[in-house]
Amino acid sequence: MIRVPPPMTLDEAIAGRSSVREYTGQRLDDAAIAMLLDAAVRAPTAMHAESWRFVVVQDEARLARLSDRAKLLLDDRARRLHERPGRRGPEVFSKPDFSIFYNAGTLLVICADAGNPFGAADCWLAAENLMLKAHAMRLGTCVIGSAVSALNEPDIKAELGIPASHAAVAPIIVGTPVHEGSPTARRDPEVLARR
Ligand SMILES: Cc1cc2nc3c(=O)[nH]c(=O)nc-3n(C[C@H](O)[C@H](O)[C@H](O)COP(=O)(O)O)c2cc1C
Repeated sequence: MIRVPPPMTLDEAIAGRSSVREYTGQRLDDAAIAMLLDAAVRAPTAMHAESWRFVVVQDEARLARLSDRAKLLLDDRARRLHERPGRRGPEVFSKPDFSIFYNAGTLLVICADAGNPFGAADCWLAAENLMLKAHAMRLGTCVIGSAVSALNEPDIKAELGIPASHAAVAPIIVGTPVHEGSPTARRDPEVLARR
């Protein structure tokens, strides 16, 4: 019997989402992907351009190749995105079996029209909608910024069907989390001025 999780309020989704870095490897089905993309395109979009485009990558071997390519291109700053103080250091990148996609079964790449000055902004707004929706569906997500350089290499764009007019902006892994995540802390909002 399929167990349908109880609905989550918007406040619960915002407060409860956290980046997930351990996945069962299970792939999302087409219905789940459609729900996520439908949520993504409800985001605000400058000049109503809706220039976002999506690439779905689920082929295991392709994800592994993309990860290897991205690892080669990572600079020190990007490497730090993968470090976890006390848990994982820079040595992780020399491990051939370390995937920057954390073995998630699905990578969704949100691409922007490179000629639209607000294209990237639209993509990030769509990304947050997608991640909150995924959390409400009890799926895990994580932005993988360190994949961006590799995803924008001309041969990889061609392989993934990203036209020259578009750029990969927001790579997001999605999958079934191994365990329930817990939200990370935030500083209180800093209000610079009230005038
Ligand atoms: C633009 C951007 C790029 C990111 N790139 C990575 C990444 O390459 N690898 C990774 O593990 N997490 C990445 N993250 C996730 C952040 O590390 C995470 O959002 C942050 O630590 C806050 O934790 P939380 O998402 O659990 O609240 C990225 C987040 C953003 C917004």
